[in-house]
Amino acid sequence: MTNESLSELSIKIESNKAVVGIIGLGYVGLPLLQAFYLSGFSVIGFDTDQLKIELLSNGQSYLSHLDQALINQMFQTGRCQVTGDLRRFSECDALISCVPTPLGENLQPDLSFVEKTAEDIARNLRRNQLVVLESSTYPGTTREILLPVLSAGGLRCGEDFFLAYSPEREDPGRKNFTTQTIPKLVGGIDDASCKLACSLYSKAIRTIVPVSSAEVAEAAKMLENIYRSVNIALVNEMKIVLSKMGIDIWEVIEAAASKPFGFEAFYPGPGLGGHCLPIDPYYMAWRARKLGVETKFIELSGEVNRAMPAYVVSNTTLALNKFAKAVNGSKILILGVAYKPNVEDVRESPGFTLIEMFRELGAQVDYNDPYVPQTRKTRRHNLLMKSIPLSAQMLASYDCVVVATDHSSYDWQLISNNAKLIIDTRNALKHAKNRRAHIIKS
Ligand SMILES: NC(=O)c1ccc[n+]([C@@H]2O[C@H](COP(=O)([O-])OP(=O)(O)OC[C@H]3O[C@@H](n4cnc5c(N)ncnc54)[C@H](O)[C@@H]3O)[C@@H](O)[C@H]2O)c1
Repeated sequence: MTNESLSELSIKIESNKAVVGIIGLGYVGLPLLQAFYLSGFSVIGFDTDQLKIELLSNGQSYLSHLDQALINQMFQTGRCQVTGDLRRFSECDALISCVPTPLGENLQPDLSFVEKTAEDIARNLRRNQLVVLESSTYPGTTREILLPVLSAGGLRCGEDFFLAYSPEREDPGRKNFTTQTIPKLVGGIDDASCKLACSLYSKAIRTIVPVSSAEVAEAAKMLENIYRSVNIALVNEMKIVLSKMGIDIWEVIEAAASKPFGFEAFYPGPGLGGHCLPIDPYYMAWRARKLGVETKFIELSGEVNRAMPAYVVSNTTLALNKFAKAVNGSKILILGVAYKPNVEDVRESPGFTLIEMFRELGAQVDYNDPYVPQTRKTRRHNLLMKSIPLSAQMLASYDCVVVATDHSSYDWQLISNNAKLIIDTRNALKHAKNRRAHIIKS
């Protein structure tokens, strides 16, 4: 490799003198900012959300699973800054983009955040900069969307600046892996870009897995998430079939998981949530359609998973019917509106879909979630509700309690002892003693 840019940037990275900019300080970007800070780099976090910038500047985290003391410490040393001023991109030697990649109205990729960030970077791009995209997206995005925008000013990729893709595999709330210990895939637009990105990430992350191109890294991320989506759809479908046969899906999964090879346990639920699984398969399907290829598995898994809230509503209707009650006029309490246990993330939450569906049928619906004291307007839902405090008396006042998310802080025995009827979509009450007849797995 010829060039001065490469060696200059390489030396800065190796000597920890590079300034690392993280764009988008959400579930992915904020832990990454911490990881580079902890590895000794000066870091600048960028976000267009002024509230996040203000909170962080005051040493406060808005993500409860992150170490609050560390956030506090980061902003006292002068080695970590956050800003909404995107012109400061030019101060950074490496820029890592972690902006959202949602779906549009018709389930098509919405790359507007990625495109806008590419334009903002391009306006400030200088020689010797490394740009990495981490947002989940279909194969080809880095080369087809970012590269032309960044090259438009005349700087050449692989010589003047460098461009790579490295998918984020963050799993908020997971205890056995952290940003530092989840292996990091890196694929460059060219060899020089891949090498530089690998050397940067190796400073903060234990295991780096270089691949031959940005496209391989992008496709690997899609495969990981589609694999989960398809397998969750499979157990959701099995749940419906087995339930008709009077067989408990959770016991079946436990039994199958005793096989030490060839089977990985996935669990059914009230539907998919979060920023990845309900979205990423559609990125791939859209891309495939553009190439004239049908993605039957991918689309079918989306269809099955999207139908799960309706299945839960239908089971609730039948269960209430046994008590001579209709959904219309019943009081229903949803437990857990975060899309998974022990986090506050409500994006694409099936809990919200359940609330809306029960309301449409005329129920009076409340929710409790220790992680979500109140709900705000989201892209898909407009629910302005407050979490109801849990007590024996409160639980007893509802016609039905629907367990949508099994936060570990819930006292399942209290819930079982006091609720009149429980629809359990997570097998959360598996250990509850006594009075089990009123618990219906769904
Ligand atoms: N959340 C996860 O667990 C997870 C896991 C793996 C991959 N991902 C992927 O990572 C990406 C980011 O996800 P996330 O969960 O961190 O999203 P997020 O919504 O939590 O965070 C994105 C942040 O980007 C900011 N932002 C938006 N436009 C911006 C701009 N132009 N400039 C600067 N900041 C901007 C937003 O204000 C927000 O704070 C997505 O592509 C997602 O699919 C997420």
